[in-house]
Amino acid sequence: MNEYSEYKCWMQERKAAIPNTIALCLATLCADQDCVFAMDELRSGLSRFAPLAKAAAGKLTFLGTIAHLNAEHGLDLPAQKPEGFVIRVTDVMVIIAGQDKAGLLYGVHRFLMLLAQDKITVGIEAADAPSVPIRMINHWDNCDGTVERGYAGRSLFFDKDRFDYDPQRIIDYARLLSSIGINRLSINNVNVRAAAKLLITEEYLPELAKLAALFRPFNIRLAISINFAAPYLLGELATADPLDPAVAAWWCERTNLIYRYVPDLAGFVVKADSEYEPGPFQYGRGHAEGANMLAAALKPHGGQVWWRCFVYNCTQDWRNTKIDRARAAFDHFKPLDGQFADNVFLQIKHGPYDFQVSEPVSPLFGALSETRCLMEVQITQEYTGHQIDLCFLPWIWTKILHFDTGYGEHSRIEELMGTRIQGLVAVGNVGLDRNWTGHTLAQANLYGFGRLAWNPSLCAAEIAEEWAHLSFGREAAAEIAGILLASYPTYQKYNAPFGVCFMVEPKLHYGPNVEGYEFSRWGTYHRADRQAIGIDRTECGTGYTAQYAPQVAAIFADPALCPEEFLLFFHRVRYDFVMKNGKTLLQNIYDTHFEGCDEVQVFLKRWLALKGSIAESVYESVKARMEKQLENARQWRDVINTYFYRHTGIADQSGRKIYD
Ligand code: GCU
Repeated sequence: MNEYSEYKCWMQERKAAIPNTIALCLATLCADQDCVFAMDELRSGLSRFAPLAKAAAGKLTFLGTIAHLNAEHGLDLPAQKPEGFVIRVTDVMVIIAGQDKAGLLYGVHRFLMLLAQDKITVGIEAADAPSVPIRMINHWDNCDGTVERGYAGRSLFFDKDRFDYDPQRIIDYARLLSSIGINRLSINNVNVRAAAKLLITEEYLPELAKLAALFRPFNIRLAISINFAAPYLLGELATADPLDPAVAAWWCERTNLIYRYVPDLAGFVVKADSEYEPGPFQYGRGHAEGANMLAAALKPHGGQVWWRCFVYNCTQDWRNTKIDRARAAFDHFKPLDGQFADNVFLQIKHGPYDFQVSEPVSPLFGALSETRCLMEVQITQEYTGHQIDLCFLPWIWTKILHFDTGYGEHSRIEELMGTRIQGLVAVGNVGLDRNWTGHTLAQANLYGFGRLAWNPSLCAAEIAEEWAHLSFGREAAAEIAGILLASYPTYQKYNAPFGVCFMVEPKLHYGPNVEGYEFSRWGTYHRADRQAIGIDRTECGTGYTAQYAPQVAAIFADPALCPEEFLLFFHRVRYDFVMKNGKTLLQNIYDTHFEGCDEVQVFLKRWLALKGSIAESVYESVKARMEKQLENARQWRDVINTYFYRHTGIADQSGRKIYD
């Protein structure tokens, strides 16, 4: 590894020479006329390596679309799916060919990434295409420059209620995103408040157009979050009722105006009737009526609606044991299956709650059979340590993708990707911090999201190793990947036990507060008493398990079969319940919290041992975060263990220190 730069993420400079035969080909680049951008990207990517040898007669690199290269040069490159590519390397030629222009760009980036990992050799033929058409980042940026749930500095796009950005930084961001296949990006918070309501007015649209132009060459189409009540909030109509023809006409006109500025806008993200955001319910209308009205306005422009399913009662009474927030998305949207226009996509959080550390996969993915949807995950670490604690999220995403919904054949989530599930969308984790993500190792989460959206069958270890190699070089890669891969299970251990969820400081969502959401109007209770903890979600309880396919429900509903990481999510369990390892639930709570904390200590030791083999700047910044994480893990351990000790009066069998 040479000069390391946190800013360059997985696109580091490397002085290593490219193998000679390949370097000779790369010295002469030829591209179809309309593929000049991809050629420039390749050229600038190659400048990160040692200078190339002089051109040699008869050796060259071709870039173009598959159809064009086959026709012009008599090649036999196999056709790919949209946005796919082929890389072929012979001893006289390097060919990077895209099914389309986007595919070519992705081919160029993959070529560069493989080259950086010394994986480009003569004879290689690699073909690949994305699993889903929509691979999107949602920014939760506010126009005042703050970022909701942002832990990496202020907004890349806004400040003081204006667009305000460094164009070079935007280009660098776009390049990072396109290198991992991201092709959609919504720029503003789903809670569309204050000046953000004006993004769809001519006061802001010319600036939106300029921003879109920076992303466009990278095959990234912008999207915006809109406020459902805009016609009313902008003072133009007395209502936002989706069935009022004046409202529908207003949206058509407004959408036409937006597309005059941004002709390739990808569409609208909508948070409606959710956490006090306005929506069709206010007018006695349903989600399908609301979404379809917007879809009709977008349709002529090729735009799409991403309608979020994060709809639940956030004014509930903890005394009422029948209301179950986990049921909400299914209860609202399953009955509407088949009623949405074909350019509406239901955007469903991966779990029934809200990006919790251990929650099952939402039953909606399996249950919807006539509606297109997207799965939403969070790269920003709202509940997973605020980019202070290390938490490698691809570890959990791969488990989510492997979940078998149990509906029909090929029913695992990864198998539904590209059919019913048309995309993966993530709340972004970048901000103006020099290293983009606050914690430098959190760059791996952004990288991993893109790679999994492209190919949901990748495993977490592959992603960790690839990222660590690209970012820190071969030598340190295995050790860093090892730490990353252990980090999620460790975080799970010192967090809320066995699927409880939400034992966090309210609003902030960092650090333990066992009863923080216990008597709250937002819901999500564990109801711990002296004997037991957890919610019975079987038929005898809230009935949530019945939202899954019968064979899946049967597993979750049986405490003996239910995966233990979700035990308390699905069941109310006595502390003396004996778990699979022969120990009681209570002893397992104590053990996991001691272990989780000890494991953070081990991460820190492993990191300290890397001194000298990675750049000092990243070594120091990660060390500081790990020290803070250790404090945090200790706090979790002691607060949780003390809470249960005080409730039960039962001591730890190993006699470790629990405060009373
Ligand atoms: C969570 C998060 C909010 C966010 C919401 C959403 O509740 O804490 O900040 O607005 O999710 O996804 O809409």
